[in-house]
Amino acid sequence: MVTSGPVKSIYIHIPFCIQKCNYCNFVSFPDKQGMLKDYFIALGKEINCSINNPKTRFSTVYIGGGTPSVADSFFYEKLLSLIPVESDAEITMEVNPGTVNGQYLEELKKIGINRLSIGVQSFDNCTLKTLNRLHTAEEVQIALDLAKKAGFNNISIDLMYGLPGQTLSDWEQTLIKALEFDVQHISTYGLKIEEGTPFHLNMPENLPDEDEAAQMYLKTIEILEANSFIHYEISNFCRPGCESRHNLAYWDNEEYYGFGAAAHGYSGGVRYSNSENLEDYIANPLEKLHEKKLSEQEIIEELIFLGLRQMKGVNILAFNGKYDGIVAKYTAMGLMKHEDDIISLTPQGILLSNNILAEFIG
Ligand SMILES: C[S@@+](CC[C@H](N)C(=O)[O-])C[C@H]1O[C@@H](n2cnc3c(N)ncnc32)[C@H](O)[C@@H]1O
Ligand code: SF4
Repeated sequence: MVTSGPVKSIYIHIPFCIQKCNYCNFVSFPDKQGMLKDYFIALGKEINCSINNPKTRFSTVYIGGGTPSVADSFFYEKLLSLIPVESDAEITMEVNPGTVNGQYLEELKKIGINRLSIGVQSFDNCTLKTLNRLHTAEEVQIALDLAKKAGFNNISIDLMYGLPGQTLSDWEQTLIKALEFDVQHISTYGLKIEEGTPFHLNMPENLPDEDEAAQMYLKTIEILEANSFIHYEISNFCRPGCESRHNLAYWDNEEYYGFGAAAHGYSGGVRYSNSENLEDYIANPLEKLHEKKLSEQEIIEELIFLGLRQMKGVNILAFNGKYDGIVAKYTAMGLMKHEDDIISLTPQGILLSNNILAEFIG
């Protein structure tokens, strides 16, 4: 019933950072930059062995981290030379404002990166310090100006809410400031206290409560939509036509290759992941840590799970009435919409999305 076309998207993980942010549990190492050169050699091997169909052309490449911008542009020039892409491919790189200058951004543009995802998080220096971010608010401004000057016209920024000491009015100011920069895409993330992070070990005392964080989320939708942004995924907003094509591929449950330590991929109906251990990955870049062929039922559950993250929703006609009871219940509660076989979450439903999605899967 569910078929997949050729793999058209690539994620490349760069697990290096200059310092760890207090909330972050992504696989990234602040103290292993000495291994950078060997890491890129291993990445080259993995990419070369995986792309073995000479006719393949990729439509999106996403270089994420970690902090990809800690590595010189020539490493990426080499990597990208191994990847055949379509002429209008979306090639994104995550950058940290504390690691870039004008020359570096111009080099990225020159080697074919055409979309930047900039980790802003906040425009308040005190908050940035609490988060242990590498950069100041002034450096954010400089990085954004330099990115535009280098010719980038597809820029996304990450912002966080529910932060220590943050009020609803502070968050509104953050959004208004973000709008001043006239970027094409904004991702907003509610702070999650992740196990093993400094915030988990030493919980900040002045965190907004759940209700306040929910108000911040609803305010995000209100302010960004009032300013012509389209709310197209739970956490993502864009100018018309500026969706992240790469992330849309994930949410549409398309297959993609994941390269690098801790990267996940999905190819031939198999979800796989690479070793999170840098030394192991460098020694054996072709070895998969986990591989799992998805059952038909798991594919359906993923279609629903990923589809409901998108505001356009998901068509339930193919599911033969299996979820009608759950859909009727949440529609009656005003948490879900059901129109022409398409189901989607309402903003109130998104606030409870973890519970609702669990019910579809459970
Ligand atoms: C992998 S990070 C990539 C960005 C880049 N490493 C940086 O920080 O500049 C993607 C985004 O996820 C968000 N994020 C990471 N950990 C989070 C957490 N514990 N709670 C909420 N958002 C988080 C941040 O907004 C971050 O920019
Ligand atoms: S820079 Fe990004 S990946 Fe690195 S520690 Fe901070 S949030 Fe995590």
